[in-house]
Amino acid sequence: NDSESEVNNRLFMVCELLEAHIDYYNWVGFYFKNGDKNELKLGPYVGEPTDHTIIPFGKGICGQVAVSSENFVVPDVHAQDNYLSCSITVKAEIVVPIFVNGENIGQIDIDSSTIDPFTEADERFLEFVCKEVAKIL
Ligand code: SME
Repeated sequence: NDSESEVNNRLFMVCELLEAHIDYYNWVGFYFKNGDKNELKLGPYVGEPTDHTIIPFGKGICGQVAVSSENFVVPDVHAQDNYLSCSITVKAEIVVPIFVNGENIGQIDIDSSTIDPFTEADERFLEFVCKEVAKIL
């Protein structure tokens, strides 16, 4: 396996590519299960710094995906009650889990400043990205 810093470099480049090439992807980052704790830890990301560097399982959109292991598409974050706000400019969010050997080990999280921008094509594309990412972890 690659060293942790090399993996983080590659994950950061994935974030940069996605943020640069898809205009409604405005914050792109990875969260990973934090050791054996029931929480997520922020990994590489592109966009505004967030206060949510640690997210307990069940909390917010990310924490819910840690529990459900299913994609979570949020067309309008203001309509969500279990949501952790990072920036007032965020209107929508998509979170897609990353599986290694069938285990949900983390996720890609994307925020958008456009309302309701994510389609099933984004889900299929991000599932593909997560499968590719899983190979280098
Ligand atoms: N909005 C997320 C928190 C992470 S930030 O979007 C970077 C949530 O509700 O889990």
